[in-house]
Amino acid sequence: MSISIWETSPSCPGHRRAPFVITVRISREIHRHLPGVDLPSPQTPRRQMPLLVMRALLSGRGRRHRNVVRMGEPGRSTVSGNGRPWVVTHNSASVDGRIAVSPGLLLMMDERWPVLPGSTYADVKRRHEPTVILEGSGSFVRDTEEPSPLPPATETRQVLLENYLPEKAVAAATNGWLTVPDSRGRVRWLYKQFPGEDWAGWHVLVLVSTATPPEYLSYLRREEIPYLVAGESRVDLKQALRLIRDQFRAETVLSTGGGQLNGALLRAGLVDEIEVEVVPIAIGGEATPTLFTAPDLPVDGVPTQLELTSAEIRSQGRVLLRYSVSGRE
Ligand SMILES: NC(=O)c1ccc[n+]([C@@H]2O[C@H](COP(=O)([O-])OP(=O)(O)OC[C@H]3O[C@@H](n4cnc5c(N)ncnc54)[C@H](OP(=O)(O)O)[C@@H]3O)[C@@H](O)[C@H]2O)c1
Repeated sequence: MSISIWETSPSCPGHRRAPFVITVRISREIHRHLPGVDLPSPQTPRRQMPLLVMRALLSGRGRRHRNVVRMGEPGRSTVSGNGRPWVVTHNSASVDGRIAVSPGLLLMMDERWPVLPGSTYADVKRRHEPTVILEGSGSFVRDTEEPSPLPPATETRQVLLENYLPEKAVAAATNGWLTVPDSRGRVRWLYKQFPGEDWAGWHVLVLVSTATPPEYLSYLRREEIPYLVAGESRVDLKQALRLIRDQFRAETVLSTGGGQLNGALLRAGLVDEIEVEVVPIAIGGEATPTLFTAPDLPVDGVPTQLELTSAEIRSQGRVLLRYSVSGRE
Protein backbone atom coordinates (compact mmCIF):
# COMPACT_ATOMS: atom_id res chain seq x y z
CA MET A 1 0.00 0.00 0.00
CA SER A 2 2.71 2.52 0.82
CA ILE A 3 4.18 1.67 -2.56
CA SER A 4 1.00 2.90 -4.23
CA ILE A 5 1.17 6.14 -2.30
CA TRP A 6 4.69 6.78 -3.49
CA GLU A 7 3.70 5.95 -7.04
CA THR A 8 0.87 8.43 -6.90
CA SER A 9 2.99 11.23 -5.48
CA PRO A 10 2.30 14.47 -7.35
CA SER A 11 6.06 14.79 -7.72
CA CYS A 12 6.05 11.72 -9.88
CA PRO A 13 5.73 12.90 -13.49
CA GLY A 14 3.87 10.69 -15.91
CA HIS A 15 1.34 9.53 -13.31
CA ARG A 16 -1.17 12.35 -13.81
CA ARG A 17 -4.16 10.10 -14.46
CA ALA A 18 -3.26 7.26 -12.15
CA PRO A 19 -3.38 8.99 -8.74
CA PHE A 20 -7.14 9.43 -8.47
CA VAL A 21 -8.04 5.86 -9.32
CA ILE A 22 -5.37 4.40 -7.09
CA THR A 23 -6.01 6.80 -4.24
CA VAL A 24 -9.71 6.01 -4.09
CA ARG A 25 -8.80 2.39 -3.80
CA ILE A 26 -6.43 3.25 -0.96
CA SER A 27 -9.14 5.30 0.77
CA ARG A 28 -11.56 2.39 0.77
CA GLU A 29 -8.89 0.13 2.12
CA ILE A 30 -8.15 2.54 4.94
CA HIS A 31 -11.86 2.89 5.75
CA ARG A 32 -12.22 -0.84 5.94
CA HIS A 33 -9.36 -1.20 8.40
CA LEU A 34 -9.38 2.17 10.15
CA PRO A 35 -12.99 3.25 10.46
CA GLY A 36 -12.03 6.05 12.89
CA VAL A 37 -9.79 7.83 10.39
CA ASP A 38 -11.15 11.04 8.89
CA LEU A 39 -10.62 10.57 5.17
CA PRO A 40 -10.82 13.24 2.47
CA SER A 41 -14.10 13.23 0.56
CA PRO A 42 -14.18 12.00 -3.03
CA GLN A 43 -14.83 15.63 -4.07
CA THR A 44 -11.34 16.65 -2.92
CA PRO A 45 -9.25 17.98 -5.82
CA ARG A 46 -7.40 15.08 -7.31
CA ARG A 47 -3.97 16.54 -6.82
CA GLN A 48 -4.45 16.77 -3.04
CA MET A 49 -5.75 13.25 -2.54
CA PRO A 50 -2.53 11.33 -1.96
CA LEU A 51 -1.26 13.83 0.58
CA LEU A 52 -4.59 14.02 2.45
CA VAL A 53 -4.98 10.26 2.56
CA MET A 54 -1.48 9.96 3.92
CA ARG A 55 -2.18 12.66 6.53
CA ALA A 56 -5.44 11.05 7.60
CA LEU A 57 -3.69 7.74 7.96
CA LEU A 58 -0.92 9.21 10.05
CA SER A 59 -3.23 11.21 12.31
CA GLY A 60 -5.65 8.36 12.99
CA ARG A 61 -5.23 4.96 14.55
CA GLY A 62 -2.48 4.35 12.06
CA ARG A 63 -0.20 6.65 14.00
CA ARG A 64 1.04 4.65 16.91
CA HIS A 65 4.64 5.21 16.00
CA ARG A 66 6.17 7.68 13.61
CA ASN A 67 7.50 4.91 11.39
CA VAL A 68 4.67 2.43 11.74
CA VAL A 69 1.66 2.17 9.52
CA ARG A 70 -0.88 -0.29 10.86
CA MET A 71 -3.75 -1.47 8.72
CA GLY A 72 -5.79 -3.52 11.16
CA GLU A 73 -5.50 -5.04 14.57
CA PRO A 74 -2.31 -7.07 14.45
CA GLY A 75 -0.96 -9.07 17.32
CA ARG A 76 -4.14 -10.96 18.05
CA SER A 77 -3.50 -14.02 20.16
CA THR A 78 -6.37 -16.26 19.46
CA VAL A 79 -7.19 -19.79 18.50
CA SER A 80 -7.92 -20.27 14.84
CA GLY A 81 -11.34 -21.67 14.00
CA ASN A 82 -10.27 -25.29 13.65
CA GLY A 83 -9.10 -26.40 17.07
CA ARG A 84 -5.47 -25.51 16.62
CA PRO A 85 -3.56 -22.48 17.87
CA TRP A 86 -3.03 -19.31 15.83
CA VAL A 87 0.26 -19.73 13.94
CA VAL A 88 2.60 -16.83 13.22
CA THR A 89 5.88 -17.21 11.36
CA HIS A 90 8.64 -14.74 12.11
CA ASN A 91 11.92 -14.49 10.21
CA SER A 92 14.67 -12.10 9.58
CA ALA A 93 15.34 -12.08 5.83
CA SER A 94 17.54 -10.38 3.27
CA VAL A 95 15.77 -8.29 0.64
CA ASP A 96 15.78 -11.34 -1.61
CA GLY A 97 14.11 -13.51 1.02
CA ARG A 98 17.18 -15.45 2.14
CA ILE A 99 17.32 -16.46 5.79
CA ALA A 100 20.97 -17.53 5.84
CA VAL A 101 24.05 -16.34 3.96
CA SER A 102 25.32 -19.69 2.67
CA PRO A 103 23.83 -23.18 2.63
CA GLY A 104 25.05 -25.45 5.39
CA LEU A 105 26.12 -22.67 7.74
CA LEU A 106 23.92 -22.08 10.77
CA LEU A 107 22.97 -18.45 11.20
CA MET A 108 24.01 -18.41 14.84
CA MET A 109 27.57 -19.21 13.72
CA ASP A 110 27.68 -16.73 10.86
CA GLU A 111 29.04 -13.29 11.62
CA ARG A 112 28.10 -12.03 8.15
CA TRP A 113 24.41 -11.84 9.10
CA PRO A 114 23.73 -8.37 10.52
CA VAL A 115 22.96 -8.46 14.24
CA LEU A 116 20.95 -5.32 14.77
CA PRO A 117 19.78 -3.69 18.00
CA GLY A 118 16.18 -4.38 18.95
CA SER A 119 15.83 -7.49 16.75
CA THR A 120 15.66 -9.89 19.68
CA TYR A 121 13.47 -12.76 20.68
CA ALA A 122 12.11 -10.50 23.44
CA ASP A 123 10.94 -8.06 20.77
CA VAL A 124 9.16 -10.79 18.80
CA LYS A 125 7.66 -12.36 21.91
CA ARG A 126 6.33 -9.01 23.12
CA ARG A 127 4.34 -8.60 19.91
CA HIS A 128 2.88 -12.09 19.73
CA GLU A 129 2.87 -13.39 23.32
CA PRO A 130 3.33 -17.01 22.27
CA THR A 131 3.38 -19.85 24.76
CA VAL A 132 4.93 -22.16 22.22
CA ILE A 133 7.80 -21.28 19.89
CA LEU A 134 8.52 -23.65 17.01
CA GLU A 135 12.07 -23.92 15.75
CA GLY A 136 13.35 -26.28 13.05
CA SER A 137 15.99 -28.89 13.81
CA GLY A 138 17.93 -27.20 10.97
CA SER A 139 18.70 -24.34 13.35
CA PHE A 140 20.60 -26.70 15.66
CA VAL A 141 22.19 -29.30 13.43
CA ARG A 142 23.31 -29.14 9.80
CA ASP A 143 21.79 -31.61 7.35
CA THR A 144 25.28 -32.78 6.42
CA GLU A 145 26.25 -33.46 10.04
CA GLU A 146 26.33 -36.99 11.43
CA PRO A 147 24.92 -36.88 14.98
CA SER A 148 26.76 -38.85 17.65
CA PRO A 149 25.53 -42.47 18.04
CA LEU A 150 23.22 -43.35 20.93
CA PRO A 151 22.97 -46.55 22.97
CA PRO A 152 20.06 -48.92 22.21
CA ALA A 153 16.69 -48.24 23.85
CA THR A 154 15.85 -50.13 27.02
CA GLU A 155 12.10 -49.36 26.99
CA THR A 156 9.46 -51.16 24.93
CA ARG A 157 8.21 -49.53 21.71
CA GLN A 158 4.79 -49.12 23.32
CA VAL A 159 6.25 -47.11 26.19
CA LEU A 160 8.47 -45.05 23.91
CA LEU A 161 5.58 -44.03 21.67
CA GLU A 162 3.64 -42.48 24.53
CA ASN A 163 3.84 -38.72 24.92
CA TYR A 164 6.46 -37.91 27.53
CA LEU A 165 5.95 -34.88 29.78
CA PRO A 166 8.01 -35.24 32.96
CA GLU A 167 6.71 -33.18 35.89
CA LYS A 168 10.03 -31.43 36.35
CA ALA A 169 9.92 -30.03 32.82
CA VAL A 170 6.26 -29.02 33.08
CA ALA A 171 7.04 -27.15 36.30
CA ALA A 172 10.00 -25.40 34.66
CA ALA A 173 8.07 -24.26 31.58
CA THR A 174 6.46 -21.33 33.33
CA ASN A 175 6.60 -19.10 30.24
CA GLY A 176 6.39 -21.65 27.46
CA TRP A 177 7.89 -24.35 25.32
CA LEU A 178 10.68 -24.08 22.77
CA THR A 179 9.41 -26.80 20.47
CA VAL A 180 11.42 -28.58 17.77
CA PRO A 181 10.20 -31.21 15.29
CA ASP A 182 12.94 -33.83 15.12
CA SER A 183 11.47 -37.01 13.66
CA ARG A 184 14.93 -38.20 12.59
CA GLY A 185 16.32 -37.78 16.10
CA ARG A 186 19.23 -35.58 15.12
CA VAL A 187 19.57 -32.94 17.85
CA ARG A 188 21.70 -33.72 20.91
CA TRP A 189 20.50 -31.20 23.47
CA LEU A 190 23.11 -29.18 25.29
CA TYR A 191 20.40 -27.25 27.12
CA LYS A 192 16.90 -28.12 28.22
CA GLN A 193 16.48 -24.49 29.18
CA PHE A 194 18.52 -22.02 27.19
CA PRO A 195 20.56 -19.46 29.09
CA GLY A 196 19.77 -15.74 28.99
CA GLU A 197 16.88 -13.56 30.09
CA ASP A 198 14.94 -14.14 26.88
CA TRP A 199 14.64 -17.82 27.63
CA ALA A 200 13.91 -17.81 31.37
CA GLY A 201 10.91 -20.06 32.02
CA TRP A 202 11.09 -21.68 28.56
CA HIS A 203 11.71 -25.41 28.31
CA VAL A 204 12.67 -27.53 25.30
CA LEU A 205 9.95 -29.82 23.91
CA VAL A 206 10.61 -32.19 20.99
CA LEU A 207 8.04 -33.28 18.41
CA VAL A 208 8.62 -36.81 17.15
CA SER A 209 6.81 -39.33 14.95
CA THR A 210 6.29 -43.08 15.16
CA ALA A 211 9.29 -43.45 12.80
CA THR A 212 11.68 -41.69 15.19
CA PRO A 213 14.53 -44.06 16.13
CA PRO A 214 13.75 -45.74 19.49
CA GLU A 215 17.23 -44.99 20.78
CA TYR A 216 16.50 -41.29 20.35
CA LEU A 217 13.22 -41.49 22.28
CA SER A 218 15.04 -43.42 24.97
CA TYR A 219 17.73 -40.71 25.06
CA LEU A 220 15.08 -38.01 25.50
CA ARG A 221 13.58 -39.94 28.41
CA ARG A 222 16.97 -40.44 30.05
CA GLU A 223 17.65 -36.71 29.76
CA GLU A 224 14.12 -35.86 30.95
CA ILE A 225 13.43 -33.95 27.75
CA PRO A 226 9.69 -33.94 27.05
CA TYR A 227 8.26 -35.02 23.70
CA LEU A 228 4.96 -35.36 21.91
CA VAL A 229 4.30 -38.01 19.26
CA ALA A 230 2.43 -36.85 16.12
CA GLY A 231 2.53 -38.46 12.68
CA GLU A 232 4.13 -41.46 11.09
CA SER A 233 7.07 -40.96 8.72
CA ARG A 234 7.47 -37.32 9.84
CA VAL A 235 5.89 -35.05 12.37
CA ASP A 236 2.31 -34.35 11.29
CA LEU A 237 2.30 -30.62 11.96
CA LYS A 238 -1.47 -30.25 12.03
CA GLN A 239 -1.85 -33.06 14.53
CA ALA A 240 1.07 -31.67 16.55
CA LEU A 241 -0.56 -28.24 16.75
CA ARG A 242 -3.79 -29.79 17.99
CA LEU A 243 -1.86 -31.77 20.60
CA ILE A 244 -0.08 -28.59 21.67
CA ARG A 245 -3.43 -26.86 22.02
CA ASP A 246 -4.89 -29.74 24.05
CA GLN A 247 -1.87 -30.27 26.29
CA PHE A 248 -0.90 -26.68 27.00
CA ARG A 249 -3.98 -24.67 26.05
CA ALA A 250 -1.65 -22.76 23.72
CA GLU A 251 -3.42 -20.02 21.78
CA THR A 252 -0.51 -18.65 19.78
CA VAL A 253 2.36 -20.61 18.30
CA LEU A 254 5.23 -18.58 16.92
CA SER A 255 7.39 -20.32 14.35
CA THR A 256 10.86 -18.88 14.09
CA GLY A 257 11.94 -21.90 12.09
CA GLY A 258 13.85 -22.02 8.85
CA GLY A 259 12.45 -22.28 5.33
CA GLN A 260 11.69 -25.98 5.39
CA LEU A 261 9.66 -25.88 8.58
CA ASN A 262 7.84 -22.72 7.54
CA GLY A 263 7.36 -24.11 4.02
CA ALA A 264 5.79 -27.28 5.44
CA LEU A 265 3.47 -25.18 7.62
CA LEU A 266 2.53 -23.01 4.64
CA ARG A 267 1.77 -25.92 2.32
CA ALA A 268 -0.32 -27.58 5.04
CA GLY A 269 -2.40 -24.39 5.31
CA LEU A 270 -1.32 -23.92 8.92
CA VAL A 271 0.04 -20.34 8.75
CA ASP A 272 -2.22 -17.52 9.94
CA GLU A 273 0.25 -14.64 10.01
CA ILE A 274 3.64 -13.97 8.44
CA GLU A 275 6.07 -11.50 9.94
CA VAL A 276 9.35 -10.67 8.22
CA GLU A 277 12.02 -8.30 9.34
CA VAL A 278 13.81 -7.35 6.14
CA VAL A 279 17.47 -6.53 6.71
CA PRO A 280 19.42 -4.45 4.19
CA ILE A 281 21.47 -7.13 2.49
CA ALA A 282 21.00 -9.01 -0.79
CA ILE A 283 22.48 -12.50 -0.91
CA GLY A 284 21.41 -14.44 -3.99
CA GLY A 285 22.25 -18.10 -4.32
CA GLU A 286 20.65 -21.33 -5.44
CA ALA A 287 20.59 -23.57 -2.39
CA THR A 288 20.74 -20.80 0.22
CA PRO A 289 17.68 -21.19 2.51
CA THR A 290 14.73 -18.90 1.78
CA LEU A 291 11.69 -17.94 3.83
CA PHE A 292 9.50 -20.79 2.60
CA THR A 293 11.01 -23.89 1.05
CA ALA A 294 8.30 -26.22 -0.21
CA PRO A 295 7.31 -28.28 -3.24
CA ASP A 296 6.68 -26.04 -6.27
CA LEU A 297 3.10 -24.96 -6.89
CA PRO A 298 1.52 -26.67 -9.90
CA VAL A 299 0.67 -24.36 -12.83
CA ASP A 300 -2.89 -23.99 -11.55
CA GLY A 301 -1.83 -23.66 -7.89
CA VAL A 302 -2.82 -20.50 -6.06
CA PRO A 303 -0.29 -18.59 -3.92
CA THR A 304 -1.30 -17.95 -0.32
CA GLN A 305 -3.04 -14.57 -0.36
CA LEU A 306 -1.97 -12.07 2.27
CA GLU A 307 -3.14 -8.77 3.72
CA LEU A 308 -0.68 -6.25 5.04
CA THR A 309 -1.44 -5.47 8.68
CA SER A 310 1.51 -3.26 9.54
CA ALA A 311 4.76 -1.92 8.17
CA GLU A 312 7.39 -0.42 10.41
CA ILE A 313 10.55 1.29 9.26
CA ARG A 314 13.23 0.45 11.82
CA SER A 315 16.73 1.72 12.40
CA GLN A 316 19.66 0.69 10.24
CA GLY A 317 17.61 0.02 7.14
CA ARG A 318 15.34 -2.65 8.54
CA VAL A 319 11.63 -2.94 7.74
CA LEU A 320 9.25 -5.04 9.83
CA LEU A 321 6.35 -6.29 7.73
CA ARG A 322 3.32 -8.10 9.09
CA TYR A 323 0.79 -9.87 6.95
CA SER A 324 -2.22 -11.95 7.85
CA VAL A 325 -3.30 -14.80 5.63
CA SER A 326 -6.50 -13.76 3.87
CA GLY A 327 -9.69 -15.31 5.11
CA ARG A 328 -8.43 -16.17 8.59
CA GLU A 329 -10.71 -15.19 11.45
N1 LIG B 1 16.85 -15.77 9.37
C1 LIG B 1 16.02 -16.44 10.12
O1 LIG B 1 15.01 -15.89 10.61
C2 LIG B 1 16.24 -17.90 10.38
C3 LIG B 1 15.37 -18.62 11.23
C4 LIG B 1 15.59 -19.98 11.42
C5 LIG B 1 16.66 -20.61 10.79
N2 LIG B 1 17.49 -19.88 10.01
C6 LIG B 1 18.59 -20.54 9.30
O2 LIG B 1 18.02 -21.34 8.26
C7 LIG B 1 18.79 -22.52 8.09
C8 LIG B 1 17.90 -23.72 8.37
O3 LIG B 1 16.79 -23.67 7.54
P1 LIG B 1 16.28 -24.95 6.80
O4 LIG B 1 15.17 -24.53 5.89
O5 LIG B 1 17.44 -25.68 6.22
O6 LIG B 1 15.81 -25.86 8.01
P2 LIG B 1 14.51 -25.91 8.93
O7 LIG B 1 13.45 -25.01 8.55
O8 LIG B 1 14.98 -25.93 10.31
O9 LIG B 1 13.96 -27.32 8.43
C9 LIG B 1 14.05 -28.49 9.08
C10 LIG B 1 12.89 -28.64 10.08
O10 LIG B 1 11.64 -28.66 9.41
C11 LIG B 1 10.97 -29.86 9.70
N3 LIG B 1 10.22 -30.23 8.50
C12 LIG B 1 10.58 -30.02 7.22
N4 LIG B 1 9.63 -30.46 6.39
C13 LIG B 1 8.67 -30.99 7.15
C14 LIG B 1 7.42 -31.60 6.86
N5 LIG B 1 6.97 -31.78 5.60
N6 LIG B 1 6.65 -32.00 7.88
C15 LIG B 1 7.09 -31.84 9.15
N7 LIG B 1 8.25 -31.25 9.50
C16 LIG B 1 9.03 -30.83 8.50
C17 LIG B 1 12.08 -30.83 10.03
O11 LIG B 1 11.62 -31.87 10.82
P3 LIG B 1 12.41 -33.27 10.86
O12 LIG B 1 13.72 -32.99 11.54
O13 LIG B 1 11.48 -34.08 11.68
O14 LIG B 1 12.56 -33.74 9.46
C18 LIG B 1 13.02 -29.92 10.82
O15 LIG B 1 12.62 -29.69 12.15
C19 LIG B 1 19.93 -22.46 9.07
O16 LIG B 1 21.04 -21.87 8.44
C20 LIG B 1 19.39 -21.53 10.14
O17 LIG B 1 20.43 -20.93 10.88
C21 LIG B 1 17.31 -18.56 9.78
